[in-house]
Amino acid sequence: MRKTFLTLIAILFSIACVKAEEGMWLPSLIHKNIEEMQAMGLEISAEDLYSEDGASIKDAIVRFGRGCTGAFISGQGLLITNHHCGYGQLQRHSSVENDYLTEGFWAANADEELHNKGLTITLLVRMEDVTQRVLEATEPGMDEERFQEAVAVVSREIADEAKENGLYETQVNPFYFGNEYYLFVYKVYRDVRLVGAPPSSIGKFGGDTDNWMWPRHTGDFMLFRVYADENNQPADYSPDNVPYQPEKFFPVSARTLEPHDFTMVYGFPGRTNRYLTSDAVQFIMEQENPMGIELRTDILQIYDQYMASSDKVRIQYASKHAGVANAWKRWIGENRGLKRLNAIEVKKSSEEAFQEWIQENPSQGQAYEDLLTEFQSTYMIYHPLRYSFRLYFEAGQNVEINRFARQFMKLVSVSQQKDVADDVLQAELEQVKDAARRFFKDYHAPLDQQVLATLTRHYIDLSQPGMLPPELAEVKKKYGADTERFARDIFSRSMFVSEEKIMKLLDNYRPSHHRRIERDPAYRFAAGLYNFTIAEVQAPMQKVQTKLDSLYRVYTAALRIMKPEENFFPDANSTLRIAYGRVEGSYPRNGIQFLPFTTSEGILEKAAQPDVVDYTISERLSTLLKNQVFGDYATGDDLRVNFIASNHTSGGNSGSPVLDGQGNFIGINFDRSWESTMSDIMFDPEQCRNISVSSQYILWVIHQYAGKEYLLDEMEVTGLE
Ligand code: ARG
Ligand code: ASP
Repeated sequence: MRKTFLTLIAILFSIACVKAEEGMWLPSLIHKNIEEMQAMGLEISAEDLYSEDGASIKDAIVRFGRGCTGAFISGQGLLITNHHCGYGQLQRHSSVENDYLTEGFWAANADEELHNKGLTITLLVRMEDVTQRVLEATEPGMDEERFQEAVAVVSREIADEAKENGLYETQVNPFYFGNEYYLFVYKVYRDVRLVGAPPSSIGKFGGDTDNWMWPRHTGDFMLFRVYADENNQPADYSPDNVPYQPEKFFPVSARTLEPHDFTMVYGFPGRTNRYLTSDAVQFIMEQENPMGIELRTDILQIYDQYMASSDKVRIQYASKHAGVANAWKRWIGENRGLKRLNAIEVKKSSEEAFQEWIQENPSQGQAYEDLLTEFQSTYMIYHPLRYSFRLYFEAGQNVEINRFARQFMKLVSVSQQKDVADDVLQAELEQVKDAARRFFKDYHAPLDQQVLATLTRHYIDLSQPGMLPPELAEVKKKYGADTERFARDIFSRSMFVSEEKIMKLLDNYRPSHHRRIERDPAYRFAAGLYNFTIAEVQAPMQKVQTKLDSLYRVYTAALRIMKPEENFFPDANSTLRIAYGRVEGSYPRNGIQFLPFTTSEGILEKAAQPDVVDYTISERLSTLLKNQVFGDYATGDDLRVNFIASNHTSGGNSGSPVLDGQGNFIGINFDRSWESTMSDIMFDPEQCRNISVSSQYILWVIHQYAGKEYLLDEMEVTGLE
């Protein structure tokens, strides 16, 4: 009795001691963390996670499109990612008649799978530390621009050598702001087909109401299949292609998780900013985020109003709405989290500690004496530029007609060339026509006119002194505060709001017609804003950015000297990473506890609120859940839907497989709680939780809800009793 008690104490103690910390680690260096991981419950080895000879887990993970992750769950190229990652594709296949967004989509066989133009998946073949070779190409004391040029040249050289005649796509990425460099060798597959998507009432359940929040009940998954040529190699889309056979795929676990179970998230996080100085954090909190939040609040109001009034507009703007709302809500959460952590003060005091270390260690520290004041003076120049740059994206580029018209700039410049080759012109025309078709499929001019009016007003009001683009100065002079009238004028006179007019122009296009484009008021406005931003904002900003890069390179190097015992992780940069933690809840506010699991009961609870559209579910879902038809996937009387865990994740980790200690697939990552979103800048182990769909719910939806058992046949389901 006493002995079991002591073992229990020992176990509890070890759980308390080995605390998941922040960090997204490079797979090839994971041996540095492996002891800690194993103490937390990992049962496999570093080589099982990443190996260059023979299959390892990394071979089952892909970058999905540009900004997401995906994982193979069958030997026949079946790939799982998030519903919100495939949402754009699903939306493009949808129409009012075939509303796959609402109804879901399931291919009954290979012939019914839907091809997705332009969609690729990227597999990491290997990565290699090339720091030495890159830095040898630089000289000490080089000024930053020459340094970066030298790095760019040798990086290209290294990357080109590794291409093996175009078999691979390669890239050299800097880490720790250029203290280290790694070569990444990728294989890119170009034939990726849609296999299955649950209805939005499952895949997007909770919508923007629940986005970035716990408790969550979303079946945020979608299935694709990767195709290859007969040698299993990448190929353009062709009906003759065959399913890709991955070197490794994940067994899907039907096992019930326990609190404190070990978890890891293996995927492609996009960007974190772990090392920012206090000035930079202050700028984000007090200027950049509030501006984005304010503008997007207005955009969303306009979207909501128009989407509520028509089914067509609702479908057209579904994906755009989700995109605008997503960052908006993240910024709100980020600001709250940073405030709560006292982030500016925390940064300031670590800067003081840095300065003290310099004083106390003159031999090591001397070189860094002026570093922080240099940061300050550089940021004084950088931040106004950065603000104007962000303002262009938020107030300029969120107007669809501005984005669309800008795409004609290349056609104009090609047309202006003397004796332009016909094939060059034709190629550009095709591009633009393609863009136009896609644009008008999902365009509702009255909505965009309202967005133009609103955002232009903000753009004028928020422009920094001396940074008002000439086009806006003109609007201000002519229309005063009446940007509604300005927008009305543009929309009544521009051809860019009419598919018919644009197609007529493009179908009979001759080079001399570039003048018609240039005379168009929408084009003049969009091109003017763009040109101003490139020349007057981006160019000088990049110069200062270069300076900041070099300061951060010195700063991160110094921090690693100052704290040699700490394992600093390199900021996320869209390369493959491993984060690890455990299934666990949190205490977000006084008196509130987040439990680690949600269940089907919560779906029914939410669905009982008829006034929240995002909580609408189908009769079928409601009946199955009410009658507890959970098949083999039940946990007691319940069906687990989502769970939270303490893995450090970021944007880009969506679609990442969540794995247990044996490397089984236990869920798919799709979000963080609202209390976590500051983790891109400052991680808090007490609060930061990633949100995943339980594999039990995924299996249940495929099997019981959709009745697509044949998909389970090609998967390896483990842990069924
Ligand atoms: N917040 C998640 C991530 O950043 C999911 C976003 C998609 N869902 C939505 N309702 N917008 O991307
Ligand atoms: N939802 C995010 C994504 O799409 C994940 C996150 O930011 O936590 O990558």
